[in-house]
Amino acid sequence: MQLPKPGTIEIVPSILSADFARLADEIAEIESAGVKMVHLDVMDGHFVPNITIGPLVVEKLRGCSKLVFDSHLMISEPEKYAERFVKAGTNHLTFHIEVANEPRKLIDKLHDWGVTAGVCINPETPVETIKEVAPLCDMVLVMTVHPGFGGQKFIAEAAKKIVEVRKIVGPDIRVEVDGGINTRTTPTVVSYGADTLVAGDAIFSQPDRPAAINSIRLAAENSRTD
Ligand code: DX5
Ligand code: ZN
Repeated sequence: MQLPKPGTIEIVPSILSADFARLADEIAEIESAGVKMVHLDVMDGHFVPNITIGPLVVEKLRGCSKLVFDSHLMISEPEKYAERFVKAGTNHLTFHIEVANEPRKLIDKLHDWGVTAGVCINPETPVETIKEVAPLCDMVLVMTVHPGFGGQKFIAEAAKKIVEVRKIVGPDIRVEVDGGINTRTTPTVVSYGADTLVAGDAIFSQPDRPAAINSIRLAAENSRTD
């Protein structure tokens, strides 16, 4: 289970908007829609004003799914907890630059542990802060909402940073976007250079999740510029 090679558009459902009492079934449903990855939002009530899942839940889900686990750590001490999420079955781990003390070291460790690494910037964080470490990552995540909750409004100004990030990393590193992604915002982020689109509310608020995934995929394919 590896991050898909760059060059494809991937829709990555975020389980934050799924029914947490039926997580295994919810993941099975999106898996049947042909996605390759699932986005797991980890929140600590400190870096962000919400608390979600920890490594124990990730480990249990690992037994139910073959999807690539894309863990988004919205936590204050990523260095302290990263290994536990890797051991629990994470395939790709993203940490926030705003709280990383030694981002290079963490990226190296993630690679040593055999998983791919990602760095993330909040809407107000300049791209400059990840200039040095972004090229060392396998995927860079640009937040287009303030992290903490699903179903928020897309921040168009933050999305513009995708262009800058794409310039820094070139075509061989994935650029992921997270927050307010739906069929209306997808053409914008794809035209800016994003190839990995996280969507929570736009998928899990719909009764037919495979149909919702397909409509985002279609919106993305139709707006590809390359
Ligand atoms: C927000 C999370 C997102 C969230 C996106 O803090 O990091 O992954 O699930 O949800 P939507 O797609 O509903 O904005
Ligand atoms: Zn996320």
